[in-house]
Amino acid sequence: MLSNNRLRIEGGVPLRGRVCISGAKNAALVLIAASIMAKGETILDNVPYIEDVNVLIRILQEMGVKVHWNEDHSLSIQAPDDMIRVQASADLTRKLRASNLLLGSMLGRQAKVAISVPGGCDIGLRPMDLHIKGVQALGATVDIKHDSIFAERENSKGAPIYLDFPSVGATENIMMMAALTPGDSTIENAAKEPEIVNLASYLNAMGASIRGAGTDVIRITGVPELKAVRYSTIPDRIEAGTYMLAAAATGGEVVLENVIPQHVYPVIAKLREMGVVVEEQNPGELLVKTPGKLKPVDIKTMPYPGFPTDMQPQIAVLLGLSSGTSIVTEGIFENRFKYVDEMTKMGAHITVESSTAIIDGVQSYSGASLYAPDLRAGAALVMAALAANGISRIYNIHYIERGYEDLPDKIRSLGGEMVKVNDGAEDSDAMRRMMLKVI
Ligand code: EPZ
Repeated sequence: MLSNNRLRIEGGVPLRGRVCISGAKNAALVLIAASIMAKGETILDNVPYIEDVNVLIRILQEMGVKVHWNEDHSLSIQAPDDMIRVQASADLTRKLRASNLLLGSMLGRQAKVAISVPGGCDIGLRPMDLHIKGVQALGATVDIKHDSIFAERENSKGAPIYLDFPSVGATENIMMMAALTPGDSTIENAAKEPEIVNLASYLNAMGASIRGAGTDVIRITGVPELKAVRYSTIPDRIEAGTYMLAAAATGGEVVLENVIPQHVYPVIAKLREMGVVVEEQNPGELLVKTPGKLKPVDIKTMPYPGFPTDMQPQIAVLLGLSSGTSIVTEGIFENRFKYVDEMTKMGAHITVESSTAIIDGVQSYSGASLYAPDLRAGAALVMAALAANGISRIYNIHYIERGYEDLPDKIRSLGGEMVKVNDGAEDSDAMRRMMLKVI
């Protein structure tokens, strides 16, 4: 049943101040999945407290893995010494696409796994053919029945694997399985995202032998076992990009803390082309400010180090306030323009033709009632509402809470007028409660 939880946003306030970027959702999820391969208790730092992470924790707990948050916000994970239950409930795994990362880690750890064909955001077809071809090449037999993937391995051994497309998930699953598979494996045309490098360094810290992560070719020599360690998740480059664009869209001035500039360079390059000032002030900090009118630019989303698809809706919203016409081409997913109808309600001029959006800049947006269609489109609507004249209400916020930690608090700490209103409450009640909290 759809909830009436919503975000109430009064726009038009330039965001100002400092914001600390959380750990990366897409790194934390795969590090948690990989932790079941280790003997002993793993401690992960900088894990964001978001819905996707909590769903994965519940999945592992159902499979018999001990997982708990510590007082210092770190996460403890301890898999049993013997077999982990091979399958978690479909209800849970269907909620989270990243549950498919248990394919590689479970096959690395033990001979058997069953996972539901995953759900998650509906941004495209998202098949798993490359994952399956990869684990089969390493000796697994795979059977798909009743929306579940059953995989087993007997005499698995290292092998050369070529990916038709540099899929992030397939690279991660193959890397995890190969880490504990006897012999040498290579992954050619591998994904190069920072999350891949974070995973490889984590596995190596546990005793794996992986070289070349971050390049097109990853080389892995299987080892007999991995030992648990304490490790940290990298900062979230997509959360960082979202705050940089929110600062630019509201004409504000914001310093981001706990960010790795190189990871967001594709976004920095486009912001600078639009006339936004982005400066690295101190190590791990970025200043973003908007001196004048935004210039139009063209964007095509690509695998890293190209422009990230997870920033496409947000940059489209920013380009909608530029002084001309921009073309945004989605090169990764088939169905990632679902925010356009919602933006039209705010006065945006965006037309979509198959995988391209033509964006004619307008002077400003007007507040409206909006429905988030998925995680990143939801974040883009929040940006638009912060820049708009008047009040907006954003529904389906469960999508946004999947991937952004403490969003209302962080936006308020930058001076933004935003409050979460729970189902059944009046806006005014929530605002009164927020004011009392502030006082
Ligand atoms: C990861 O998804 C991220 N999710 C996504 O972030 C991100 O958009 C995506 O990488 C691309 O950067 C996580 O890390 C949990 P892919 P993943 O496999 O691994 C096709 C967000 O908002 N493909 O690189 O699922 C696929 O259909 C999310 O945080 C196949 O054809 O992405 C897509 O078109 C959304 N066959 C393309 O490759 C396969 O077997 C990229 O997918 C696998 C993928």
